[in-house]
Amino acid sequence: MTDAVYPALPGPAGSIDAAEYERQYRASIEDPDGYWRGEAKRLDWMTPFETVKDVSFAADDFRIRWFDGGAMNVSANCLDRHLAERGDSIAIIWEGDEPGDGARITYRQLHEQVCCLANVLKARGVAKGDRVTLYLPMVPEAAAAMLACTRIGAIHSIVFGGFSPDSLAGRIEDCGSKLVITADEGCRGGKRVPLKANVDAALEKCGGVETVLVLKRTGADVPMTEGRDLWLDAEMANASPECAPEPMAAEDPLFILYTSGSTGKPKGVLHTTAGYLLWVTKTFRDVFDYREGEIFWCTADIGWVTGHSYVVYGPLANGATTVMFDGVPNHPDHGRLWETVDRLGVNILYTAPTAIRSLMREGDAHVTKYNRRSLRLLGTVGEPINPEAWEWYYRVVGDRRCPVVDTWWQTETGGILIAPLPHATDLKPGSATKPLPGVCCEIVDAEGQPLDGATEGNLCLTDSWPGQMRTVWGDHERFIQTYFTTYPGKYFTGDGCRRDGDGYYWITGRVDDVINVSGHRMGTAEVESALVAHAKVAEAAVVGMPHEVKGQGIYAYVTLNAGEEPSDDLTAELRQWVRREIGPIASPDAVQFAPGLPKTRSGKIMRRILRKIAEGDVSNLGDTSTLADPGVVEQLVAGRVG
Ligand code: WT7
Repeated sequence: MTDAVYPALPGPAGSIDAAEYERQYRASIEDPDGYWRGEAKRLDWMTPFETVKDVSFAADDFRIRWFDGGAMNVSANCLDRHLAERGDSIAIIWEGDEPGDGARITYRQLHEQVCCLANVLKARGVAKGDRVTLYLPMVPEAAAAMLACTRIGAIHSIVFGGFSPDSLAGRIEDCGSKLVITADEGCRGGKRVPLKANVDAALEKCGGVETVLVLKRTGADVPMTEGRDLWLDAEMANASPECAPEPMAAEDPLFILYTSGSTGKPKGVLHTTAGYLLWVTKTFRDVFDYREGEIFWCTADIGWVTGHSYVVYGPLANGATTVMFDGVPNHPDHGRLWETVDRLGVNILYTAPTAIRSLMREGDAHVTKYNRRSLRLLGTVGEPINPEAWEWYYRVVGDRRCPVVDTWWQTETGGILIAPLPHATDLKPGSATKPLPGVCCEIVDAEGQPLDGATEGNLCLTDSWPGQMRTVWGDHERFIQTYFTTYPGKYFTGDGCRRDGDGYYWITGRVDDVINVSGHRMGTAEVESALVAHAKVAEAAVVGMPHEVKGQGIYAYVTLNAGEEPSDDLTAELRQWVRREIGPIASPDAVQFAPGLPKTRSGKIMRRILRKIAEGDVSNLGDTSTLADPGVVEQLVAGRVG
């Protein structure tokens, strides 16, 4: 079978065509210093940099440094420099949970909010280098809080509002935040989320937080702890709207964002100032071919990296109008996205395959009821998109007029690395197509040997790009160990990948113990440790399973303590338990009670077998002769759930 190809549509004047892409790609490889020196002009520098790039991925001589000697401020690049020309243009269109409940904020207004909030932070003793945790809904104040941190050089750590008090406490503690910004409650799909109550519960488990700033979102009556908790609006009303941006060195930390890995607790991915901002500024402009005055809507939450890079920093650095959506695609009905596209006049929509698949199931009528004429470009991110969903997005949502850009990247990469340029790259449904300029991809076999031409293997990046993460907060060894030792001298992405005869990349999914549920990353080890924390559970093993809407679902094998009996009630209780321990996104889709797990004689669980059974592919389980008790396999196959 040959893959479908959609030739690139010619773009408006100034868009990058195929020849220009080739020229840039070559320049970025042949003369990275010259290439990035030119690209760095996209940003305003307070002090010009001296060296462009100083990188070595060798474990014993490791460094990743970009633009040394330079200084800048991220909030000044996202706000101040736009004021003269487009101070009265809309920076943020806020779209609330209910259609039409929202607000518009100009660059000038946002600038003022950010300065006030920065002064509130300073008044509470927050200084350059301090960590601030944000646990907020998708409201403009959340973007203002991010920018306020960058204005004074504080490092923000955003925790997704769907995470539990325990998860929040772990993240606050790991980075040692002394201030938390939250809201009374959030609203999602008509339901309330008890954000402040979760913060209170988290702070009972961890110390160090001196101040909690509370935004009034729903007006709910929430308890305030004297001396610790302050209403954000009251503090901002009394703060000065003037705050000079702090000059930050290019490699000064910008933010921490926790993400799941294959082992242990989530790691704090650290991004730094200039390289990150340049990467998201350039990729936003080029991958979405953004034009002045257009309305850009990325549906991601700011609790994920997509929200950081393409709701806030990328768009604002380009002076764009960005939509912040505090709702969900199926509330009040399945036409919400398209109704909102029409009402706001959205030009570019960037969303996740899981959302596309869930809407596709509800039928075309929810889409065709709206005209969607403002749309010019569609994007996807977060997980592999199946060609059926791609075609539906292209045909039904985009009326075959809008290029679809499938963008591959990771929390660690800061921004998009593999994606089509909409007017340069022929599209193939299901492929993220080709690396952007400055991105050096390599596919290697299990031993790390580079594979040429059309091939399949593990995806590595052989050289740095400015937006690369710089360390794991508090554990630089873990950073090097996790990413640079599997294939020494290369950054290993954790993804499997195929490259076709045209040099197109097809991401096949994680090859480590990370699963991707609705575009959200979960470490199987995290879910396992939540399960074994339950009093009735002796042992647990968690794997991914194919899921029609979520991409992957969570399949848990659970062994109970002696004397405990499996039951439907216990299944429900365990699912609820994991929700409470980690958050709703980690709740298992299937729980199989198993008398034993398939272990080798040395006690290692053979996950390969568990994966196959969860997938329902039990005809060929491979070699089971090294198992301590090969009999458990039959029991597991017989007890399969679903
Ligand atoms: C993992 C990273 C990128 C921001 C959101 C997720 C998977 C991401 C794609 C894509 C196939 C994709 C990969 C990657 N992934 N985008 N376009 N096609 N797979 O960030 O939580 O750090 O997860 O998401 O497996 O490693 P993240």
